[in-house]
Amino acid sequence: MRPFGYIDGGLAAGPVRLAAIAAEVGTPAYVYSADAIEAAYREFEAALAPARICYAMKANGNLAVLRLLAGLGAGADVVSEGELRRALAAGIAPEKIVFSGVGKTDAEIETALRSGILQINVESASEVRSLSRIAAGLDRTASAALRINPDVDAGTLDQISTGRKTDKFGVAWDEAPALFREAAALPGLSMEGIAVHIGSQLGDLEPYRRAFRRVAGLVRTLRAGGAHIRRLDLGGGFGIRYRDETPLPLEGYARVVEEEVGGLGCEIVVEPGRRLVGPAGVLLARVVAVKETPERRFVIVDAGMNDLVRPMMYGAWHDILPLEAPAAGAETRPADVVGPVCETTDRFAEQRPLPPLVAGDLVAFCEAGAYGAAMASTYNGRPLVPEVLVRGSRFDVVRARPGFEESLALERVPDWLARPGCGG
Ligand code: LLP
Repeated sequence: MRPFGYIDGGLAAGPVRLAAIAAEVGTPAYVYSADAIEAAYREFEAALAPARICYAMKANGNLAVLRLLAGLGAGADVVSEGELRRALAAGIAPEKIVFSGVGKTDAEIETALRSGILQINVESASEVRSLSRIAAGLDRTASAALRINPDVDAGTLDQISTGRKTDKFGVAWDEAPALFREAAALPGLSMEGIAVHIGSQLGDLEPYRRAFRRVAGLVRTLRAGGAHIRRLDLGGGFGIRYRDETPLPLEGYARVVEEEVGGLGCEIVVEPGRRLVGPAGVLLARVVAVKETPERRFVIVDAGMNDLVRPMMYGAWHDILPLEAPAAGAETRPADVVGPVCETTDRFAEQRPLPPLVAGDLVAFCEAGAYGAAMASTYNGRPLVPEVLVRGSRFDVVRARPGFEESLALERVPDWLARPGCGG
């Protein structure tokens, strides 16, 4: 459910008016509702206990968001050394962290081993060997799971499907038994489980069922050969409502888990990302100008594709709400909502029916808490936008807008490049 609604004609997070936040921190800005994140986490707990919930922090790695989830008991699913260090800095215990990812470097593996995390998910024969070599060299035992590619189409967007045999992720399910056995015999490795993740923004339970059935078959095959398997990491992918989708039913998901792998006596890990934070966030922007051409009404806002890339990257839909409720009976007309970036694809919505908007008006891009700030860039020399966390009736800036000087300070001009006008 969307935690943002109109109070006395102003869009608000609980009792906090978003216009008040925009007035204080400026626009563009991301705003997250801590209450909504907490409620989403509780929903997972209620539906899936005693499964371990490892938040896929790639969705939103803000330290305050991580600390909030850590306080609720969440672990983390990380995919880089940067994420691992961030999770540890936020106070997530190493024994609650799993490390996924298709291309971990030796340095990343070493940091993970030294940190003593719960599990490293390996995705290829070469990674299995690297992990064994590095762990043995450190005189440690790596707790690992083999991520399989179950060759299941998740029925979601092509760009965010990960479990088909043509996708780069995991080890082909029919090659997994041989590799698992090879891994189990290597020094420095304790092969404890199987991992699978078939894609993101799933609305349908059937692909999960097919993938989990493959996992169960593999566990039985491996156990028959004497393997000890005690943990199944079932990944994430829980769909939310952006436009008119039905959010993936968590109780139904729990039933599928129980039916397909419940009898195996394994600890279950899930890695939700989007579902915990997506609906809890909006991106605030201000209308810079409205340009009417013979063809189109362009509403030009001060947020760009560098701040929220999903519409441009995936053709994704985000509802756009004016912060001030339109007058009753206000006429809606189609508009292209675009940013200031010098790219034609810098367009949040095409021919979207919207109420009248004029320069200076504020709008919110909804369901932007996941893969919004996390995927932002500084393209066109635009600083990353600030992030704000609302809790009850208070709000705090949890990531400041960086100053222009800060980004300049990271760069160096070599001394062979003379200053222009200084005669070389
Ligand atoms: N576990 C693994 C191994 C993953 O690769 C992912 C997402 C997740 C968990 C979390 O999936 P979620 O519960 O959030 O669906 N940038 C895209 C989404 C990319 C997802 C990548 N992997 C978007 O904006 O839609």
